[in-house]
Amino acid sequence: MNPLLKVAQPLTLPSGAVIRNRFLKSAMSEAMADRSNSPNRLHVELYRKWAEGGTGIVVTGNVMVDRGALGEPGNVVVEDRRDMDGLKRWAQAGTRGGAHLWMQINHPGKQSPRTMSKQPVAPSAVPIGGSYGRAFNTPRELTNAEVKGIVKRFAETARIAQEAGFTGVQIHGAHGYLVNQFLSPADNRRNDEYGGSAENRMRFLIEIYDEMRRVLGAGFPIGLKLNSADFKEGGFTEQDSEEVVKAMAERGIDLIEISGGNYENPKMSAEDDGEVFFLKYAERMASIVHVPIAVTGGFRSKLGMEEALAAGKTSMIGIARPLALIPDIPNQIMEGRYETVTTQRLTTGFPSLDRQFGAMIGLSYYEQQMRRIAQGKAVKLHRNAWDPLLHMVRRQGIAALSPRRSN
Ligand SMILES: Cc1cc2nc3c(=O)[nH]c(=O)nc-3n(C[C@H](O)[C@H](O)[C@H](O)COP(=O)(O)O)c2cc1C
Repeated sequence: MNPLLKVAQPLTLPSGAVIRNRFLKSAMSEAMADRSNSPNRLHVELYRKWAEGGTGIVVTGNVMVDRGALGEPGNVVVEDRRDMDGLKRWAQAGTRGGAHLWMQINHPGKQSPRTMSKQPVAPSAVPIGGSYGRAFNTPRELTNAEVKGIVKRFAETARIAQEAGFTGVQIHGAHGYLVNQFLSPADNRRNDEYGGSAENRMRFLIEIYDEMRRVLGAGFPIGLKLNSADFKEGGFTEQDSEEVVKAMAERGIDLIEISGGNYENPKMSAEDDGEVFFLKYAERMASIVHVPIAVTGGFRSKLGMEEALAAGKTSMIGIARPLALIPDIPNQIMEGRYETVTTQRLTTGFPSLDRQFGAMIGLSYYEQQMRRIAQGKAVKLHRNAWDPLLHMVRRQGIAALSPRRSN
C-alpha cells in the first residue's frame, strides 16, 4: 500500500469516528430482497466483498422506513426488529477489516411507481411530471400528524440499524425522494410549518436529523445525501442547497454527500464530459462550512480522485457504478493496480427503445452485476442492454420495465 496517496489518508468525522481512507461506496439499491423485504445472504456476500475491497465507508442501497411505501421491488424495509438476525449478519459482513457500514434510510414519497402504490403520499398533491410521470400515480398530501410520524420512522429505522451493528446512517435527501420533495418548492406547496420559506421546507429534514441524533447519541455518525440542485423549473436551487448544507453543518452532521438531480440525468454522468459534475459546487461548500463533504457522480480515474482531494475540493470520493463492476477499487488503487475504468452507456441497438427504457437499462445492468458479485460470479462487461433487461424481467416480471425514478 502507498501511504502517500491522498485517498489512503484516514478521516476523523465530527462525531469522532475515524474512517480508514477517503473512499465512500455510494448507495446503490440492490433490489435483492424478496417479497418479505428482508435482507438475505446475497446482501451479506455482496457487502463482504465491498468491505474487503478496502472502501472506508460503505453506504447501503436505500432502506425504506415503511412497508407501505416502496420505491421499487426488492427494497429492504426496516420498520421494526423482525429482521434483527439478518441485519446483524449484514452488518458483520459489511464492517469486515474496519470498513464503516452506513445504512441509507429513505422514504420514496410520490416517487413510488404505480405498480407499487395506488396512491403515494407527498408534501403536496403535485403529480410527477416529465416523460416518466405516467409511471407514478398522483400523490395525496400528507397530514401534519403523518409528517411527524414519518420523522419518527426514520429515527426508529436508524436505531434498529445501530442495534444491529451498522456503524452509521445516511439520510437520503437527494434524487427526488420524500426529503428532497419537502426541500423543493416545486413539490412542496404546504401552508403548515413544513412548507413555504426555505426554513420551513428544511424542517422535515432537520426534525429527522434531531430525532436521530437524540436516539443514536453524540458519537454515532449521521450523514446526508443531498442534491446540489434538482435542475427543475421552480425547484430546489443551488442557493437552497447551500442553506441546507449550512444548517446541517451547524447542527453537527458528520458528512454531506453531494450528488445530482438524478443518476439518469445526463448532468450527472461522467461519460459525457469526462469530469465530475458537482465538484465546483462542493468546492464552494467546502470553503464556507466546516463539514466533511463527499462528492459522487463520475469519479473513475485514480488521478481525478487524487487531484480532487489534493486541491481540497472534497474530503471523500463517492463511487457507485464502478464498484458494481470492480468491488475492490480502493485496494487496487492503494496497491498501485488501478488507473481507471469506463462505465459505458448500454444500448439495445434501437435508439427509440433506448430512449423509452433508458432509465431501466442502466439500473438493470448494475443490479445484475451486484447480484453476480453476491453469487460469487464474474461481472459481465458488455454494452448489450438486452441481457440485463431480460434478467430483470425474469426476476420481477414485465412491470420491471416501467420507470421507478422520475427523471
Ligand atoms: C443501480 C443503481 C442504484 C442506485 N441506488 C441508489 C440509492 O439507493 N440511493 C442513492 O442515493 N443513490 C442511488 N444510486 C445513485 C448512486 O449512488 C450515484 O449517486 C450515481 O450512480 C452517480 O455515481 P457514479 O457515477 O459513481 O455511478 C444508484 C445508482 C445505480 C446505478
